[in-house]
Parts: sequence; structure tokens; C-alpha cells
Amino acid sequence: MRVLVVGASGRLGRAVVAALADRHEVLEASRTSQHYIDLTNSASVAGLYASVGTVDAVVCTAGKTPYGALTELTSEQWLTGVRDKLLGQVELVRLGIDHVSDGGSFTLVSGILSAEPVPTSPIASTVDGGIDAFVRSAAIELPRGLRINAVSATVFEEAWDAYGAMFPGATPIPVADAARAYVESIEGTASGEVLRVGY
Ligand SMILES: NC(=O)c1ccc[n+]([C@@H]2O[C@H](COP(=O)([O-])OP(=O)(O)OC[C@H]3O[C@@H](n4cnc5c(N)ncnc54)[C@H](OP(=O)(O)O)[C@@H]3O)[C@@H](O)[C@H]2O)c1
Repeated sequence: MRVLVVGASGRLGRAVVAALADRHEVLEASRTSQHYIDLTNSASVAGLYASVGTVDAVVCTAGKTPYGALTELTSEQWLTGVRDKLLGQVELVRLGIDHVSDGGSFTLVSGILSAEPVPTSPIASTVDGGIDAFVRSAAIELPRGLRINAVSATVFEEAWDAYGAMFPGATPIPVADAARAYVESIEGTASGEVLRVGY
């Protein structure tokens, strides 16, 4: 399969590329990868699809949200988070439908925070829940047998230094475990599923 990985240079993206590279042609995309994309810019998303041609699977491991206390977050921070991780991935699907082969798939990234929020996570929790809902909704309308799933993981061991303090008592998972859920989505038959990893 030809697999487009958006966010290929990150922790999760590198693990997904490693899990696919021996069996598939992997096209690595991000703002600094071989194939340029800025997920927050629709023209850039369209430009990437125009340049890579038809693919069999689109994977997203990119998307970030601001963190902060509910009483302190600004409307600008809310808009930033929604435009980046939620609407960026929606655009990746919306603009990608005509560029994925029949029976191909989209696999998006959400996260544990929709189901298990922590203090300072209201934007991430809302955005992750929106992605999960979008995936369930899009799955019933996608044409030509296209499939769509989300991978929703708990915190990675590799990110524990950065995020561990937000998750007291949690058990982090190796990022390779989350990458296996991407493989399940790409090579399997599921659609409309939120593939939970580690929680
Ligand atoms: N870290 C965790 O423990 C964890 C747990 C569960 C879920 N998640 C979710 O998994 C995703 C990835 O996390 P991570 O830890 O792998 O993050 P990361 O290491 O910071 O990687 C982020 C990736 O996204 C790319 N990127 C960032 N902004 C972009 C944009 N506007 N357009 C295109 N690409 C962009 C980055 O590449 P460039 O800088 O080259 O663009 C990089 O490849 C996030 O959505 C996160 O919420 C993370």
C-alpha cells in the first residue's frame, strides 16, 4: 500500500513509520518532512494531495492543543486548538476523499483526555471528543468503501517527562503500542472505531 503519514517526524509518527516501512510505501509528511504540509492551512492540505497523487491510506499523527485552566483559557486559545487538531484533521479527510483509492482508509489521532480529562485539559478533551465523534459520523457517509478510525492512546513512555505530571498514578505505554493500533486500522477492516490504547 501507499501510506501517507502526516506528522511523520514526531514521536508517534516515527513509530507508525517504523511499524509500516517494511511492508508499505510510506510517504512522510509534516512541516519539516520530505512532503510539506501545514495541517492548519487548507491550501497546504490540498497541495499535498495534489503532489503525492493517489494513496491507499492516510494517517495523521499531528495536531496540538493549548493547555490551561478552564477559568484562564482565552477564546483565541480555544480557536487555536480547534483549528489545529480538530479542523486540521477534518480537512485532511474532507480534501483527501478523492485521493484515496477504493477501500482505502483514514486513521486520525485523538487521545485519552476526551474520556479521562485532567485539570488544564478542557481544550484537548473537547477536541479529542470531537475527533472521535467525527470519525463515527464520517464512517457512515464515506463513499467507495473508504474506512475511517481514530487511535486514542494514553500518555506515551517517551513523553512522560513532558506530560507525566498531568497524569498522577497513570501507567504510560510505549509509543510502539499506539503505532500497532494504526497498523490494525490500515490493514484491517474496522471503520467508525475509536481504537483505545492503554486505557
Ligand atoms: N505524547 C503523548 O503521550 C500522546 C498520547 C496520546 C495522544 N497523543 C497525541 O498524538 C499526537 C502526536 O503526539 P506526539 O507526542 O507524537 O507529538 P510530537 O512529537 O510533537 O509530533 C507532532 C508531529 O506533528 C507535526 N506537526 C505539528 N504541527 C503540524 C502542522 N501544523 N502541520 C503538519 N504537521 C504538524 C510535527 O512535525 P513538524 O514540526 O515537522 O511539522 C510532528 O511530526 C498529538 O495529537 C497528541 O495529542 C500524544
